[in-house]
Parts: sequence; C-alpha cells; structure tokens
Amino acid sequence: MIKSIRKVGVIGAGTMGAGIAGQVANAGIEVVLLDLPSEGDDVNYLASKGLGRLKNVEMPGLVSDEAESLIFIGNTRDDFDKLADCDWIAEAIVERLNIKQQLYRNLIDCCGADTIITSNTSTIPISLLTQGMPDSFCQRFAITHFFNPVRYMRLLELVRGEQTTDGVVSVLNSFSENQLGKGVILCEDRPGFLANRVGVFAIQCALNVAFDMGLSSWQADAVFGRPFGFPKTGVFGLYDLIGIDLMVDVAQSLVNILPENDPFHQYSKTNDFVTNMIANGQTGNKNNKGFYRGTGIDREAIDFNTGEYISFSKVKSDLLDRTEKEGLSVLLQGSGKYADFAWRVLSEVLCYSASLVPDVTSNPSDIDDAMRLGYNWTKGPFELLDDIGHQYFVNRLIDEQRDVPDFLLNNTKDSFYSTSFGVLQVLQEGGVYAPIVHSKGVLRFSEIRQTLVPKNTNQVASWYEYEGAAVVEFHSKANALDGGSLDILGDAIHQSEKDQLRGVIVHNDSQHFSCGVSLWAVRECFEDNDYQRLDDFLKHFQSTMSIMRNSNMPVVSAPVGMSIGGGFEVVLHTDQVIANTNSVMGLVESGVGLVPAGGGCKEVLYRWNAKLNDPKQAAWNAFMNVGLGRLAKSPLEAEKLAFTKPNDSFHINRDHLLGNALLALDGVKKTAQMEPLKLTGMAHFEEMKSWLSKNLEKGFLTPHDQTVGTEIARIVTGGECLEGTLANEQDLFDAERESFLRLARLPETQARIVSMLDQGQTIRN
Ligand code: NAI
Repeated sequence: MIKSIRKVGVIGAGTMGAGIAGQVANAGIEVVLLDLPSEGDDVNYLASKGLGRLKNVEMPGLVSDEAESLIFIGNTRDDFDKLADCDWIAEAIVERLNIKQQLYRNLIDCCGADTIITSNTSTIPISLLTQGMPDSFCQRFAITHFFNPVRYMRLLELVRGEQTTDGVVSVLNSFSENQLGKGVILCEDRPGFLANRVGVFAIQCALNVAFDMGLSSWQADAVFGRPFGFPKTGVFGLYDLIGIDLMVDVAQSLVNILPENDPFHQYSKTNDFVTNMIANGQTGNKNNKGFYRGTGIDREAIDFNTGEYISFSKVKSDLLDRTEKEGLSVLLQGSGKYADFAWRVLSEVLCYSASLVPDVTSNPSDIDDAMRLGYNWTKGPFELLDDIGHQYFVNRLIDEQRDVPDFLLNNTKDSFYSTSFGVLQVLQEGGVYAPIVHSKGVLRFSEIRQTLVPKNTNQVASWYEYEGAAVVEFHSKANALDGGSLDILGDAIHQSEKDQLRGVIVHNDSQHFSCGVSLWAVRECFEDNDYQRLDDFLKHFQSTMSIMRNSNMPVVSAPVGMSIGGGFEVVLHTDQVIANTNSVMGLVESGVGLVPAGGGCKEVLYRWNAKLNDPKQAAWNAFMNVGLGRLAKSPLEAEKLAFTKPNDSFHINRDHLLGNALLALDGVKKTAQMEPLKLTGMAHFEEMKSWLSKNLEKGFLTPHDQTVGTEIARIVTGGECLEGTLANEQDLFDAERESFLRLARLPETQARIVSMLDQGQTIRN
C-alpha cells in the first residue's frame, strides 16, 4: 500500500489539471503533467499551454521558478510510461464518462498496482466512474475535487467509493492537508458534492431573482456581496469570472443529475438575455466582456433593457452600509428593493442548505466549511442562520406560507453552534450537539474565539488570552486600522508583560489580515481640515509599532491573505512572521497618494541595508519597493523584496499558522535594537528626483506619482542632508510623518482617497 506520496502524475493540462500540477510543485514534489499530443511542431503544445497559464501575473499558480522546474510536461501518447512510478495520479480531463474510463483502463496497464488514482470530476458520481472497473482499481480510486484557482482556493472535497480503502482515503487526506495546504471535507457521493450544490444554487437563484425584480447587475452585486459576507464580485461579477457559458453548462450538468423534485430546477434555466449574450461572445472576463466590461473608472455594465454597456456608480444605500456594520438582520428586517432581494435570495439559499441535512451530509458544519473554503463566504449558511436568528427565520417562512425544511422545523435549539466546556459544537440531526473536530495541526481562530471571552475589545479589534499568549485580532471592515486597533495592540503588549504571558500573536482568520490604515479615518481628518488629529493618529501608530518592536514581549504575526499598507507595517514590526504561502504583502500607500508612515519606509530601508551593506543600493531599492507599491505574492518574492527576516517562515496550509505561531513564541528572538544608519543624502535625493522626472516625461508616471515619489525619496535618502548623516529610528518615523501630512493636504491625494472609497478604484492623476 502507498504510505506517502513522493511523485504525482496529472492527466489533462486544462484549467484544473495545470492548477493541480502547480500546487503539487509548490509543495516541492515532482509532477508529470500530460495532455493529448498535438499535431504540428510542438507535440506537447497543450501541456505547455497549461504550464504557461500558471504564470499569470495577477494570480500566479506557482510560487517560484524552482516549483516550475519540478513539473515535467508531456503527452499521453509518448510519455505514458513516465507515470509508472507515480504514487498518485490525478485525472483532470474532459467531463465525459467514457473518455475518463478509457483512460483509467490504460492507467491500470501502465502504473503500479498500488498507485492511487483520483478524478477531479465535478459532476460524475464515483459509482458511475468505477462501474465495470476491476475491484483492484476501485479500491484505490477516489474523487479529489479541487476548486479553481487551485493554488488559492482552500477547499478539497474528497469522495470515496464503496470499495475505496481506508488507507487510500487517509493518504489522500493527509497529503492534501499537510502538503497541498487544503481544507479537506469528506463528502458523500452526491450530485455537486457540497460546495457546488449550495454555491451553484445560490448563484442561479440570485441571478433569476435579480432579473425577476428588475435589478441591475451592480445593484444585485451590491447586495449579494459584502452585506452577505460573500466576495465582492457578487453574482454577476462571479458569472463573468467563471465564464457565462461555462456557468450555464455547470447548471445544466447539475440539472441532469439532480432528482426531479430538487428545488434547484426552478432556478436552473438560462433566460433569453443570457443566451443572447453567449451567442454574441459576451461570455465574461475571458472575452473581456460579460455582464461587465473594462476596469477601473472605465468599468461599464450591460443594461438589461437595451443590451448596451453603460457606465454606473457604486450603489449608495444607508441600509447596506448599516448592514455591513451591524449585521445581516438589519438588511433582512429593513424595507425596499435591497431588503426584498436579500430576503428572497437568502431565504432560498438557507432553506436549500438545510434541506441537504442529513441526506447529503449529516454535519451542517461541513456545509459551512465548504462555503467558506470553496466559495470564500465569510460565514456558511448555518452560521448566517445563527446571525439572523433561527426562530425569526422559521416564523417568517411560516408567515409566508412557505415550506420549512425538516432540519429547521425540528430544531428546538436557539442556535446551530454552541460552546460548552470551552468546546465549539454544532447541532446534528436529532437535536444533539457534537464537537467540531479538525485534523492535527488545524487551529482556526474564528472558531476558537467563540469559546473565549476577550480581555479587551472595542469596535475594531479585540485581544484574548489563549494557550498562555495574547492573541490580537483586528475585526473592522477589511480589517482597516484606526486608533482603536492600535489601542488594543498596545494594551495586549502591556498586559502580557504585566501578567507574564508567553507573548503576543497578531492574527485573524478572516479573508485578509489587514488592508491598512483606515482611509475613512484619513478622509474624515482632511474633510474636517483637522490635520492635528491626523498627526496625533500617526504618532499613536508609530509609538505602538515602536513599543511592539522594542518591548520585551515576543510578538509574532501570523498574517493571512493580504497584509498591505499599514497592515504590513504591523507585520514588519513583529519579531517573527509566520505567514501563509499565499500571503500577499506590500506597502501600497503610493497608490492613494500617501507614503507609509507607520515605520514602513524605515523598516524596508533598514532591511535593505542589513541585506546589502551598500547604503546607496539599499536606499534605491527601498525607493523602488515603496514607490511602485510592490507586492510579494509568494515567500520567494517576499525574500527578494527584503520583506522577510531569516527566522520568518511560510506554511502552505493557512489553518496551520496559529499552531505554528504558538510553537514559535517560546523560541522567538527579540528583534535587535536599531542602530542609527547612514543616510545617502542630497546628491542621491537629486538622482531619484531626476529618475522621477525622466519617467514622467516618458509617460510612465503621472505628476502626482512624481510628487509622492519625491516624498519617498526624501525619506529614504534624508533629503537635503549631507551624505553620511546618521538617522535613528525616531528620525525616520518623523520624516515619514511629515511627508504623509504634506501629501494628505494635497487635493490630488484627497481625490485618490475619495475615488478609492467611493468607487473602489484608484485614479492616476
Ligand atoms: P479543460 O477543458 O480546461 O481541460 C481539460 C484538458 O483535458 C484539456 O487540455 C484536454 O486537452 C485534456 N484532455 C481531454 N481528453 C484527454 C485525454 N483523453 N487524455 C489526456 N488529456 C485529455 O477542463 P477543466 O476545467 O480543467 O476540467 C477538468 C476536470 O475538472 C473536469 O472533470 C471538470 O468537471 C473538473 N472541474 C473543473 C472545474 C473548473 O472550474 N473548471 C472545477 C472543478 C472540477
């Protein structure tokens, strides 16, 4: 029996196969990626095209060139023998049963008797895939259903057949969690498994209800996005992302396999408008036109009445704003078209989810997990029901004379989740609670938090004592930082010292660690013409960073998703970073016409100096990193940008970060005190300014980019000072703060901030 996976074969180098091969290589494991042979010069054209797609700049499927070198590409005619010594072969070819089965027969002849074989099918039941196949094949066969894009989507649905051995399930489970970094859910062999069963229902339902109510795409998306805790793409944006034609096929394939009485059928149909769009080639992002087209301020949406693209503005609604702050009940109990749309869609989605218990899964938390990890919902259906209030929900359904699923009707408890004896539990069919159990190493703070009482909390952040450490969690919108976040951080450090805790961990289990300093707070200051308040905030920010860096308490950060701008400045000031392989980090303040002023420029400058021992090159690199708002999208990129220290580490499974941060606490070395560094001075400042002028002339930079760049140059060189002038930590903090305040007063910066907040877009002025 295969005990561990050391070499992998992937067949089919399309969207999914290439993605799976990429993630296997990201885990440092050799992989053979085969597709059909092509006519013409390059027999491996299809496999190389798949590999090429992994190099997408926006969302790279590979973490490094080293990972790429682990992928061998070939074709199923000439290179089939390369699969012979693979421990696992993942099939990701076209969704056709006979073609898949023919491939399995060929694999039986070529690979080892123990080799594990899986399919990535999204719709074909395992009972059909294995029909007529020998027992020896069925025992080592399973479905491993990944989500697109494979590197970034956390969910893996693992489906065993009647004959699949425990050993095969266990090897796949552990490999996928520990080496591929996935959250594995064991699913029954049911149509659409869990995530697509609920997710496709939700998308189809929202689309149909939006058309029925006469809402525009951007109005529907303003509801079926952030207010629900769903990704901001909403429903029409998601349709564009997936591909409108593909989405129609996915819905149809579910229609073919779901029982006739399944509620999905009433929402599965495509309307004439969408059919026409597909006929016109308006199939979504891949064709640069779908329900939306263009980006930034040029983004337009299709008008459902005329079929023409029109410009539109972000929806302004107090009800939606309040919902984001106060929770979903505000929206559902509100009035008007947004409240009606929300109730019509959400009530259907939640009822449908509940109807899947116990036939599709006996465990509601599996559905919640599937939607969080596979669709990036902040909360799953049963968590949303707990927010809304189970009784309110059921009563309203009864008032409307609608059917109530048995699982909801029979539930006599107040909530689906409960904590007793410090353990989070979930309600099962039959009305009993069962503890939520994860595999070894998996710790989710979003769950743990529910069993703790905060030591200190305010609207935007809290800190808790857990395992003898203080865990600080930001929880504002996009985890933006303001004075309240810094108060909590400072208090956690102070109290941990007093109470002799093991240290402080800055972490959260949301989509992103932090998008930076709250631009709403900055905007309020300039709109009130109160620059003193802004200065006070910056001083507060800097002193908190300095305390964190220079206190005796070990401080570890465990950032997930994006930590950018001020969020990354927090990370930069911790003693050790335990990051995820997909963490995105960078100082992006220049995009909104500002400079990092929480010590970001200082840290980057110090780190380049430590790395290069060449003050001029160090200052130049800091100028470029900060000026161009460079982002590190992988551990290697972070290292190249001098964003990491030698003791920082990256882990492929983000659910392992907290556990590793706790382990790290005891061995953390406090960051050394900062020695003053030599500034490169005025001549170097002039050199940077002339680079900015040249690039303005060439049209690469805008006038305001030049202004912001000049401020960054001033900070990293010392501006009008002599070369060799010494600067200590406080001098650099002061330089950052002065530049920030100068820029915040300028109308160009203010216009950038307003556009970012009101339109969600950057402007280049
Ligand atoms: P795709 O159409 O992008 O790629 C399929 C690849 O398989 C093509 O490159 C094709 O040339 C190759 N192929 C076809 N027959 C072959 C054969 N006999 N031998 C070797 N290669 C062959 O398809 P995609 O989207 O990657 O889907 C692959 C599988 O993954 C399907 O079963 C699909 O249902 C499933 N899936 C797709 C998801 C998606 O978002 N696209 C998500 C989850 C599962």
